[in-house]
Parts: sequence; structure tokens; C-alpha cells
Amino acid sequence: MAVDLLLGLQWGDEGKGKIVDVLTKNYDIIARFQGGPNAGHTLEFDGIKHVLHTIPSGIFHDKAVNLVGNGVVIDPVIFKKELDNLAKFNIDFKNKLLISRKAHLILPTHRLLDAASEASKGKAKIGSTLKGIGPTYMDKTGRNGIRVGDLELKNWEEKYRALANKHEAMIDFYNVDLQYNLAELEADFFAAVEVLKTLQFIDSEEYLHQAQKAEKTILAEGAQGSLLDIDFGTYPFVTSSNTTAAGACTGLGVAPGKINEVFGIFKAYTTRVGSGPFPTELFDQYGETMGRVGNEFGATTGRPRRCGWLDLVALKYAVQVNGVTQLIMMKGDVLSGFDTLKICTAYNYKGEKITHFPFNIEAENVTPIYTEMKGWKEDLTKMTEASQMPKALNDYIDYLEKELEIPIKIVSVGPDRTQTIHR
Ligand code: IMP
Repeated sequence: MAVDLLLGLQWGDEGKGKIVDVLTKNYDIIARFQGGPNAGHTLEFDGIKHVLHTIPSGIFHDKAVNLVGNGVVIDPVIFKKELDNLAKFNIDFKNKLLISRKAHLILPTHRLLDAASEASKGKAKIGSTLKGIGPTYMDKTGRNGIRVGDLELKNWEEKYRALANKHEAMIDFYNVDLQYNLAELEADFFAAVEVLKTLQFIDSEEYLHQAQKAEKTILAEGAQGSLLDIDFGTYPFVTSSNTTAAGACTGLGVAPGKINEVFGIFKAYTTRVGSGPFPTELFDQYGETMGRVGNEFGATTGRPRRCGWLDLVALKYAVQVNGVTQLIMMKGDVLSGFDTLKICTAYNYKGEKITHFPFNIEAENVTPIYTEMKGWKEDLTKMTEASQMPKALNDYIDYLEKELEIPIKIVSVGPDRTQTIHR
């Protein structure tokens, strides 16, 4: 039985949480494969907004099992807060939330190291969410990390202490003004670890293997977006994991040949939070309107997101790297009211017109070349059928499908579960 995959095609915040929630009814297992609490997956239904950071977005459905895969990094303190929120809504997570023993733990000192590293970079800072993601993945690849399965060993606290001591020396090395009380942070951490230990830790690759043999349906849920991928994103302004399709194989232990559908999600325009190049970024009233109407504020940090026109060069690149088989377009409703819409179809790269995504997309090298399309005025937020969609929106979608050579199967017209049009 095959595994479907859902991931973001831009710089994150495409709306993966909402769509995983919408699609969960088709799956037995929802499995997060990378990233950590730097993500903020927002779901809205019955008039209530829920934000998840580490827990997969299928958790609100009765049937599905939700798995936190080996590729994810877990901060027990944030995880505990997520569980507390679920408990408020009587979600029976104990029976349907599984955690891979091979997932790595974010320690309090990882968060401090993140802060010290960013502070030391000054203007060159990445704009990290400061959740300790980079330092935790560094310890993973440096073969120093502590994994969920270690919590079952007697001596894990010794291992913890040795690593935390080393981190403190590293924080000193950065020589920045960082105020912290490690004893307090550790008290929270160890209390949260005890809560984490009440959940089911599993050998998740074996679990998924058996699930596939038993013909269970599995949806792998990505976090962040393809342009934040550690290899294929706008390095160094990226996150520290593989957010692209291959990350699902390493982040869950699923073989490449078992991947079936790859659902790629993008917004009808582009946003980015944090630093880094963004060729189609707008600094005018159009960008301001997108941000205001689209409520473009980070779900994890509350930071305003930078907004700009759709970048088809970057989108094609993401479709290619991920092998997308179906597209999902989010936030079409936010563009209602614009007379004209622009789509970046090529870059002027050092004086030459190019249509591929180059090594460096810094503003001094790249200026976008746009095509223009007629906008639509209709309010889309009440629409439920494709037949209700205005002609200009259909034209926009047709154009993208032709350029990307992949069908757009879902058009989202608002944050609520119900504001979803299947085509
Ligand atoms: P980090 O992964 O928290 O270190 O952040 C690295 C970069 O990725 C920063 O520019 C963040 O703003 C961005 N980033 C990380 N997670 C997300 C996300 O879930 N959505 C959007 N941007 C993110």
C-alpha cells in the first residue's frame, strides 16, 4: 500500500494544517516527517482556531492515528502545551498519538544556542523562530543528540548533563548578552519529559512497514516549505531539515518507491517570514493588502509575514524537486478585489532572462519579469462548488495548470474546513 505525501511549495505557511485536516478522513495514519515546533499548523472548524506545532494535523479526527516521525525534533515543553490544549477539547490523544523513538529532543540549551547564534550574526541573522531547531539538527548530524528512545534508558540524564554542559561552553563562546536561568528552564523541561513519557514511544519505521503490509492508508505531513529546505532552499536562509519529498523517506523510513501522490500546496501569492531573498516581495499597498486581508502573521512567532506576487519560477522548481502530482491552491479569496494580478514567469538574472531557479536569488542578481492577468472582484469565501468560481479565477488557475503541467485539485477560499472547493 502506498504512502501519500503533503508538503509546502513556498517558504512555509501555505496552509498545510488546514488541508491535512480536510484530507484526514481518507487516511488511517497521519505522520509528520520533519521540522519541529518552528512550525505552526493552523486548523479552523466549528468557529474555533487551533494551532499545532509538533503534533500532526489529523489529531482532531477520531479515526486516524497520528505519528511523530523520526525526522521530527521535539521540544517536550512545547509538546506538553500542545497536549494541554488538546485536553481542553477532550481529544483522546493517548490512544492515537505515537512518537518515534528515533526522533531527537530539543533541549533548553538548544534554544539558548539558537538565540546566541542569531544574536552573534547581527544583520546577517536568519530570522530563526528561535525554537532550537538548528542546534538540535546540528547535534543530530554531529552524532551527539538525545533521542526519545533514550528517555527509556537509566542513564539518559547523565548524557543530558554532559551535552548541556558542552552547550553552555558554546554559548559563552558566542560572547553575546544572553540572560537566562538554566535551572528554571530545566525544571520545566524535566517536568515536560515526564508527561512525554506517558505517551506511546514506538519503532515507527517498523510500525509503518506493518501498516503498509496491512494496506493502511498513510499521509505524510510536511512542515515549513520547499524553499526552506536545507539543500534546495535559499541557503543559508533556510531551516535545518529536508522539507522536500525525499525528507519523508528519511523522516519516516518509507521507501522511495512507496510514495504515491505528492500533494503540493501553494498560496495564490507568496509570503515569507524571517530574513532572506524574496524576488517578488512587495513594499506597496498591494503587499500591505495581502498581509492585512490574508492575516499574514506567523502562527508560531506572531511576526508579520512579507508578501508578494506569485513566483512561478520558484513554484516550478518546487514542483520539480518534489515530483508533485496534485496541486492545492490556498487563499484565492485574499486576492479578491485586485484589478490586475501579476505572476513572475522569469527572472532577469545578471542581465539575462532565465526561467530556472538559480544558485543565488539575491536582489542584486535577480529582478522578476511579470505577466499580468485580470483579477476578480467576487467574494469567494462562501463558495463551495467549482461551478461558482468567477471566470477570472478560473483563468488564473488554468494558466498555472498549463505552466506547471499539474492539475490544481483543491482551491481553498478561507481558513475554515468548509471553505474548500474540490475540482
Ligand atoms: P528555524 O527553522 O526556526 O531556525 O528558522 C529558519 C527560517 O525558516 C526562518 O526564516 C524562519 O522564519 C523560517 N521558518 C521556520 N519554520 C517556519 C514555518 O513553519 N513557516 C514559515 N517559516 C518558517
